[in-house]
Amino acid sequence: MLFFLIGFMGSGKSHWGKLWAAEYKIGFIDMDAEIEIAERKTVSEIFDSKGEEYFRSVEAELLRSYVDLDSSIIACGGGTPCFHKNMKWMNDHGLTIYLSATPEEILRRLMKAQQQNQRPLISKLNQAELLFFIQKKMKEREPFYGQANIILDSFSVTEHTFEEKVLPY
Ligand code: S3P
Repeated sequence: MLFFLIGFMGSGKSHWGKLWAAEYKIGFIDMDAEIEIAERKTVSEIFDSKGEEYFRSVEAELLRSYVDLDSSIIACGGGTPCFHKNMKWMNDHGLTIYLSATPEEILRRLMKAQQQNQRPLISKLNQAELLFFIQKKMKEREPFYGQANIILDSFSVTEHTFEEKVLPY
């Protein structure tokens, strides 16, 4: 079984994915990290040198390469569900889990040191611009995120959530 963790930047996909996978002794994949290894560049460098469109095509291809993977939790990038019909592909090939959070909560997390400058879409925004960006992008992305099989309020997610809400699904 493949478990796809989706949600906005800063919603906790990598954090919870890694923790749950370790607890249940299944695989864990962080898509951004895999793209960085494959391209030998950081996500920011890829956006700068080759553009977002290129990044999205690498991302979509990588996603489809997981088709025969053993049971794993896959932490997607924040935009993964919104391009190249990826959301449909994920729903056809596994269980999608949306970590939902309010724009204010996302802002609070992204304002923490190191969180913003590693993310090319938001690295140059001040606090007011960042909140505006999050609100706008969230509206655009909700229709994709909302197609998830399971929607979790990221605020109340704990180490037990996978066992309590995801496994029984
Ligand atoms: C993006 C989110 C990032 C990364 C890239 C684009 C997005 O992943 O894939 O910077 O479009 O929201 P995280 O959600 O892990 O930060």
